[in-house]
Amino acid sequence: MPLSLPRSLPLDAERYHPDPREPVDRWFQTASASNVRTTMAVVADLVGPSCRAVVDPFAGGGSSAMAARLMDLPFFGIEIDPVLACVSLAKSRATVRHARILRRLPPIRDPESLLPVLAMLPAYASADEVAVASCLAVVLALRASRGTPLGYEDVTGDLARLRPPAATGRVVCADATAPVGWRGLAVPKAGIVLYTSPQFGRRSPLLGAPPRLTASARDVLAAAEADQGRKAAPKDSGFAATTVAMLRQAAAMTRRATVIIEHEPDDDGHDATREVLEQAAAALPGRVHDARVIVCGQFTWRGPLSLIVFELR
Ligand SMILES: C[S@@+](CC[C@H](N)C(=O)[O-])C[C@H]1O[C@@H](n2cnc3c(N)ncnc32)[C@H](O)[C@@H]1O
Repeated sequence: MPLSLPRSLPLDAERYHPDPREPVDRWFQTASASNVRTTMAVVADLVGPSCRAVVDPFAGGGSSAMAARLMDLPFFGIEIDPVLACVSLAKSRATVRHARILRRLPPIRDPESLLPVLAMLPAYASADEVAVASCLAVVLALRASRGTPLGYEDVTGDLARLRPPAATGRVVCADATAPVGWRGLAVPKAGIVLYTSPQFGRRSPLLGAPPRLTASARDVLAAAEADQGRKAAPKDSGFAATTVAMLRQAAAMTRRATVIIEHEPDDDGHDATREVLEQAAAALPGRVHDARVIVCGQFTWRGPLSLIVFELR
């Protein structure tokens, strides 16, 4: 573990918030998304070239997926919201070819017009391509449902700027605190960075996509064998309990990992950084090493953003 502090910590708003111009990432950025370039810089500083894969068990709209792609690393993600799981999957695996396939089909103007496109896709694409193209179609429907349609030129142009994704990697819709999603994910046993931003309390923003779109996203993921999810919304067990429940599953699946967890205080200002480290050390005896909390800038009324960092061995 290098001793130097990350050169590019999110110390100011520009490094903290997602960049609305970042190609592909800009297709959809959740209210709690991270800045892709900052994530890359933190991973580069804390893990260095030994990093072989990025894992994000609370993948949201895929800022870590995007960072992994730009670092040419496989991405393994879990996300409980089906629409966001599709967004993460599209960001990590879509290519120009998928965009061109969709372009041959009727335009996606809303969740309703997504349905015929999904039905037609198998006639235009191979089985592997259908899964990714369907997720890309869900992204287009999500954007249309928000009154900010995404043009095919923008999608194709963004993808043309990227290299093809790493051959391995997977995104599933599942509960990251339960074993089933992790089993389907098959993360490498070593050389990974687990970079994540868990749900931080009741007011942590949820997506709230139209129910019809969520149902279609679920069907898309089921067809791609990427739906291992509990169907209910996650219950609010608190930041530390949720994070440690996830870490138990991660630790069962991997021998060595650098863990980087973004933390913001809960709605009541409660700081859970110490609880996470104490409970993780108790839940995973002998496996938590070099633990520290790096305090970054303050971007919300709740309190500062911190990175909880440790080596899992
Ligand atoms: C703070 S957001 C992550 C933001 C993410 N970095 C992005 O780029 O959008 C937390 C995410 O965790 C998801 N989530 C909450 N509980 C979960 C669980 N038990 N398993 C998997 N995902 C969960 C939420 O749906 C939400 O998208």
